[in-house]
Amino acid sequence: MSKKTEDGAQHPPTKPATRFVTGGRDPFSYYGFVNPPVYHASTVLYRTAQDYLAHRSRYTYGRRGTPTSEALCGAIAELEGPECAGVALLPSGLAAASAALLAALRAGDHVLVTDSVYLPTRKFCDDVLTRYGITTTYYDPLIGGGIAELMQPNTRAVYLESPGSLSFEVQDVPAIAAAAHARGALVLMDNTWASPLYFRALEKGVDLAIQSGTKYIGGHSDVLLGVVAAKAATWPRLNDTVFTMGLWTGPDDMYLALRGLRTMGVRLAQHFVSGLKVACWLEHRAEVLQVLHPALESYRQHALWKRDFSGACGLFAIVLKPVPNAAVHALINELTLFGIGASWGGYESLAIPFDCAPMRTATTWAPGGPAVRFHIGLEDVDDLISDLERGFAALARAR
Ligand SMILES: Cc1ncc(COP(=O)(O)O)c(C=O)c1O
Repeated sequence: MSKKTEDGAQHPPTKPATRFVTGGRDPFSYYGFVNPPVYHASTVLYRTAQDYLAHRSRYTYGRRGTPTSEALCGAIAELEGPECAGVALLPSGLAAASAALLAALRAGDHVLVTDSVYLPTRKFCDDVLTRYGITTTYYDPLIGGGIAELMQPNTRAVYLESPGSLSFEVQDVPAIAAAAHARGALVLMDNTWASPLYFRALEKGVDLAIQSGTKYIGGHSDVLLGVVAAKAATWPRLNDTVFTMGLWTGPDDMYLALRGLRTMGVRLAQHFVSGLKVACWLEHRAEVLQVLHPALESYRQHALWKRDFSGACGLFAIVLKPVPNAAVHALINELTLFGIGASWGGYESLAIPFDCAPMRTATTWAPGGPAVRFHIGLEDVDDLISDLERGFAALARAR
């Protein structure tokens, strides 16, 4: 940030918590104000016709970059780490996933996609990629290095999401990446759950790391945004695809994302602690068959999570012992501190019923009972547990 640009001195490497605060900042370019201005911009004016023809200008066009977009991209790049060569901003997380796929693939290619993928991303593969002559095979998220057997001569990309944002399978990213790279395929990963704070995607073999910035980057349920971070070999393709398609993000949304990012480290730390406390409490409830939270020691892929991740967000699920749907709905409807809504990562707690069975083609989802996904927000965790106690009482009355 400021001092570095002023005195040109080398500062020691910083920890992620510091980078959330310092990344992408240059206050003395803006008269010392702490935050960058929000540039509402399309036209860029040049001083002369010659300058215009030679593109002699720091900025050239509204969707080619502004100080606002550069501040946000710079901050995210610092979080992604030294392997990050560039960051593209997209108008949503789904747009980030689809832009990354379009950058990696061309007609005639084949892509391997985890069966646990976010459902709208699956729809993009099935509908749009199919129309453009790209075939998709879904694979078991727990396949690990066995993915090599599914590679076809035209497989150009492998898409991961770890953990799955409904079913929470933890993938062996380094093993899958090694197998993909051995056959010349790129590795794309939706890293929204952990973010670069808790999973260093680019260092673990991922070429294009996708995040829905709508979730923890924004953090306040008031912005839609997507980001893709790329390594040097994939950045030109990604940048070119995003620019050529005219994909851009509104400056106010960029600003909200940048503002959210500054507190993301402390928010995530609290989501992690509170989420784990609620997950532990749920594990001991008689009504609960299993808790799908990778940071729980009892979780089936806990060892893999522990090897590769340094934390967890506030999103996990439970599987209830068999009860009628009406009882599940009674539990959720009784909760006063948990909203009933899909998009997680805000400061508020959420609870939704879900069933992955109709979404699966490569694996079978049969966890043994109805499932509920929770997002644990920033409320007092004991208040959340009391609310859940009331929910379980309602479930008992309705069964
Ligand atoms: C894992 C994951 N990826 C991507 C998205 C899409 O994000 P957005 O709502 O920003 O399009 C979501 C949204 O819920 C998600 O859960």
